[in-house]
Amino acid sequence: MSKRNLPPVPPEIEALVPYKPGKPIEELERELGISGAIKLASNENPLGTSPKAQEAMAKALPGLNRYPDGAGFELRQALAARYGLAQEQIVLGNGSNEIIELLCRAFLRPGDLALAASPSFLMYSKLVQVAGGRLKEVPLKDYRLDLAALAEAIEPSTKLVFVNNPDNPAGTAFSKAEFSEFLTKVPEGVIVVLDEAYIEFASDPEVAQGTDFLDHQVPVVVMRTFSKAYGLAGLRIGFGLGPVEVMDILHRVRQPFNTSILAQAAGTAALADEEFFRKTMEVTWQGLKDFYACFERLGLTYVPSQANFVLVQIGPRASAVADELLRRGVIVRKMASYDLPEFLRVSVGLPQENRRFMDELQAIIGEG
Ligand SMILES: Cc1ncc(COP(=O)(O)O)c(C=O)c1O
Repeated sequence: MSKRNLPPVPPEIEALVPYKPGKPIEELERELGISGAIKLASNENPLGTSPKAQEAMAKALPGLNRYPDGAGFELRQALAARYGLAQEQIVLGNGSNEIIELLCRAFLRPGDLALAASPSFLMYSKLVQVAGGRLKEVPLKDYRLDLAALAEAIEPSTKLVFVNNPDNPAGTAFSKAEFSEFLTKVPEGVIVVLDEAYIEFASDPEVAQGTDFLDHQVPVVVMRTFSKAYGLAGLRIGFGLGPVEVMDILHRVRQPFNTSILAQAAGTAALADEEFFRKTMEVTWQGLKDFYACFERLGLTYVPSQANFVLVQIGPRASAVADELLRRGVIVRKMASYDLPEFLRVSVGLPQENRRFMDELQAIIGEG
């Protein structure tokens, strides 16, 4: 067949590289002809779907012939009550990824600059690129966001500054005092995008909470998600909190029905499922402790985490160790695409999954 003539593809779109997500369990099992593989690669909640969210979705099923409530009234009302905000300060998204996309589409014109740490969550660079913007990256310092350097990197064409707290992939977090200090250095005309995908896991009370900064003179948009602490990654529901002027723009840019009936119902129920949330924190914090103890026994350096995953330094064999773990049915995340080739990122799983990972890691490393 002859090649079809397409309209010219803009160079920034042609240059896009598809996002490489963690390998799905089913794919690994198909490839290796094994069963019972475990995935500790995408920072998902290992406890399954909250029973309350399941009930709410079951109840909503017969009504799927209708379009969803485009305003997401019930979920936004529940979020407004939870955070003491007006509904106008809240935008729902098809995952918090969509909030990143809406911000880029709304505020970046070709040539505009966005800032983020390096390494950082890969979707920032991708969505900035799609919008025709440029991303300037500021290296982490001691595995922590370098807020002073980020503030210094702001140029007149800078529109968005992405700060991720706790940070993916490092798992480190900055304090309320550090964030307050950073905001004093942000000039007018810049939106600070505070990505709090993992904030619920932060056990250190000093860690900054974006909801404390929504009245700040600097516009701060806080992004949160139901994908991690609330266990709904497969459903795609997240939200942005911010000044009404910014949220109003995002509402105009978004598709009218960007979140589904099921996602809205499950999100509302998951928010109220305190038992599921409490269990999630308990499993995560215990899992991190067990990982740390294991790494210390094996003489491996790790970065203490405020999230539900941890970076561990394996050394030059990191990629080979990850491949061997894969062959043994344990999926963890290689960090070469994050410029940390000696590291692996491991998400906390169920206690028995963590044990299996630690046993296999010890066996592989012991084999030298
Ligand atoms: C730092 C960070 N931000 C945002 C997201 C996106 O989450 P969502 O599932 O809500 O789109 C992730 C998901 O892994 C993440 O790690």
